[in-house]
Amino acid sequence: VQIIFNEKNIRKNQAEQTFGYSKKHMKKIGLIGYGCVGQGFVRYLAQQAALEFEIAGIAVKRNDIKRPFTIIPIHYNADRLIEDPSIDIIVEAIDDAEAAFLYATRALRNGKDVITANKKMVATHLTELLELQNETQRKLYFEAAVAGSIPILHLLQSYYRREPLTRLRGILNGTTNYVLTKIFNEKLDYRKALRQAQKLGFAESEPSSDVTGADAWYKSKLLAYRAFGVDLDLAEIMYYGIDTLHEDDIRYARSRQKRIKLIPIIQPTSEGIVAWVLPHLVDPSDSFFTIDNEFNCIELEGGFIGRQQLIGKGAGSLPTAAALVGDLNALETRNKQNVHSQKAGDPAQIQIEVYIRDHEILSQNTIPFEEVKEGYMDDSYHYLVGFIDLKKLIALKPWLYQRRCTVIATGQYKINTKSAATHHQETAYCATNQKAWA
Ligand code: HSE
Repeated sequence: VQIIFNEKNIRKNQAEQTFGYSKKHMKKIGLIGYGCVGQGFVRYLAQQAALEFEIAGIAVKRNDIKRPFTIIPIHYNADRLIEDPSIDIIVEAIDDAEAAFLYATRALRNGKDVITANKKMVATHLTELLELQNETQRKLYFEAAVAGSIPILHLLQSYYRREPLTRLRGILNGTTNYVLTKIFNEKLDYRKALRQAQKLGFAESEPSSDVTGADAWYKSKLLAYRAFGVDLDLAEIMYYGIDTLHEDDIRYARSRQKRIKLIPIIQPTSEGIVAWVLPHLVDPSDSFFTIDNEFNCIELEGGFIGRQQLIGKGAGSLPTAAALVGDLNALETRNKQNVHSQKAGDPAQIQIEVYIRDHEILSQNTIPFEEVKEGYMDDSYHYLVGFIDLKKLIALKPWLYQRRCTVIATGQYKINTKSAATHHQETAYCATNQKAWA
């Protein structure tokens, strides 16, 4: 680390000599959190971007943890940075969503721009944060909260700003993708694969957020906001994770030459935007089939662009730090508000085909399938495959989860088109794996 900082000084001196930069032109940053992502951020700025930005101080919660050496002053109280008038930007890389919210709101009120990696904080307080941003005329950026190093939020705000998007689909959680890759490609055990993901710094400090699908759930809300200007109610976004996966489910997928991936979908309907996050059966012809390990992917479909995919590392210290630096870059150019301001749709607009496994017999009495396509039962392995109304699936989720059932989407779903036939013809044309239902 010392070598890195020597390098920083060399670069700073070079910058002063070459471009006439001096300390007084530098933007001062207060960094809250010096864990996996915070350390990556310090490393990035020290090596690459230190010309215009200087980390004036780092705030951490505990003084009993060994951390890498740094010449940057360490504080044990974040107020030291939030109340410091010489600091221009607060960068947050902490897990605690409520603490992150308090720091972010106070920093905005104190006239600072805020960059955060905390998706739970932004997803659960989006409305208040947007209002505060307007009121204070400061910026809150959260590129690092969605898909790690892929600059999707900034691209939605700039490049795709006016694109009439017809669907977004993604792999947004690096940890579960890593675990599923290890299970399917290397036949590794779920727990061992999860421990590896934790060791590599992909998982949240509380990895249940990853494996239950909650992490991808928060990210989907943020993605929907940037893509469609809609503030979806989290309770209306169905999510189910991979923590109930059983070896029977893996065998079911393998026997059909498929893999399982945790996939969020954001779908405009004639009534508004609907989103859901489910494990999906993915077939070899789908490009998501080979998105492996901690890689994330975002697929956009739009009237003008057709279909595009962005692929990159979605978790880990340096890729996430790169997204924080991306936000610093954006602060220099100050992007505008969304062009779109769509409304939330009713999840009952979507009928989704799912495989549901239980250890007891399943029937249409317990699971309100609209139609059942396939079923199986033996002593302890029972499954049904069929279409179900997404709203009914949301209502059923606590029951399913409490019984440790598995829920996997086949990738087929239907949108209730009602009168908006033209829009849905376009949608059906642009998207794969979905059928119009008139
Ligand atoms: N735990 C997250 C993931 C980190 O695995 O994707 C990046 O948001």
